[in-house]
Amino acid sequence: MISLKALNPFGKKENQDGNNSTMSKPNFYNDLSIPIIAAPLFLISGPKLVIECCKNGIVGTFPALNHRTTEGFEQWVIQIKDELSEFEKETGKKAAPFGVNLIVHNTNPRIRADLKICVKHKVPIVITSLGAVSQLVGAVHSYGGLVYHDIIKKRHAEKASEAGVDGLILVSAGAGGHGGTLNPMSLISEVKKVFNKTLILSGCISTGVDAAAALQMGADFAYMGTRFINTKESLAEDGYKDMIINSDANDIVYTAAVSGVNANFLKPSLEAMGITEEMWKNTKKIDFGKELSAAEAEAKAWKTIWSAGHGVTSINDCPSVQELVEKLKSEFVSSIRKQSELLDRF
Ligand SMILES: Cc1cc2nc3c(=O)[nH]c(=O)nc-3n(C[C@H](O)[C@H](O)[C@H](O)COP(=O)(O)O)c2cc1C
Repeated sequence: MISLKALNPFGKKENQDGNNSTMSKPNFYNDLSIPIIAAPLFLISGPKLVIECCKNGIVGTFPALNHRTTEGFEQWVIQIKDELSEFEKETGKKAAPFGVNLIVHNTNPRIRADLKICVKHKVPIVITSLGAVSQLVGAVHSYGGLVYHDIIKKRHAEKASEAGVDGLILVSAGAGGHGGTLNPMSLISEVKKVFNKTLILSGCISTGVDAAAALQMGADFAYMGTRFINTKESLAEDGYKDMIINSDANDIVYTAAVSGVNANFLKPSLEAMGITEEMWKNTKKIDFGKELSAAEAEAKAWKTIWSAGHGVTSINDCPSVQELVEKLKSEFVSSIRKQSELLDRF
């Protein structure tokens, strides 16, 4: 795993606690319209989507690598901060914080440069995938930022806890992207035994009812990926959005053939690229171009082979983020109300 020792510009100690989070809920929790994080989506989430999420009271995030260069990534961060601060001045309302996803792995040559941009601009939430590194956590904590880390099993949760992260994103079976294999009920129970800070549940959460269920299971936040592909502000092309509307859970294929690591993809998009069942059942990664770097080959593959989770089954529209958040909120509230009515009987 990559060493990030040289990264920490403030030279703070490892494993220090962030000054922005106490116990399981972060300070901004009560300012949100619903406890939902729109997950970072490779090639799909850009500044427009993030800004609209934050203006509407949910956490918006994007992968730093969605811009081809670190300089371009910095411009996106500046744009998001400027537009959100303008929004706060104009409306007197508080925008939700935004987050940036960093891939902490030696196949990502930009990790140091992109982290420096996060520190320079005090990005409120850094979402790490693959490596949980205490030096990175120290760098983000030095300015009061929070680090949330992706995991698919208890062992990863323990390692991330040792690195001092503020929250864990529990990626369960059926999630879009590199989904896990565990049922969310068991994943959350296992992780609770070893981690008592913020818990964020990910995988097939597409409605406000699903989000309420995630909280009922003990999560602090619901993390929604596939649902946000089908918004007006997402960068996904129309064919992708239509395929999500026309698909259900049986149209999702979990295969390592595209990335070398298992991820969920829409079957019709695999078929459209001539990838047969025999190929996707093979654990060997398909070669998308010998002349390309690993990062370019990955981008080329994900541009035409479309990832989505089992949650497609509940997605039948492509609203604006504002419309979607209103709908999620109303479903969330009525679901909790309905459940509390059970108290009259039991
Ligand atoms: C198209 C697509 C791209 C994704 N890209 C990333 C990424 O770049 N970084 C990351 O941490 N997670 C990525 N994910 C995973 C999501 O952040 C999130 O964990 C997942 O979508 C949640 O499950 P759901 O799609 O069932 O809601 C991606 C997911 C999808 C569907």
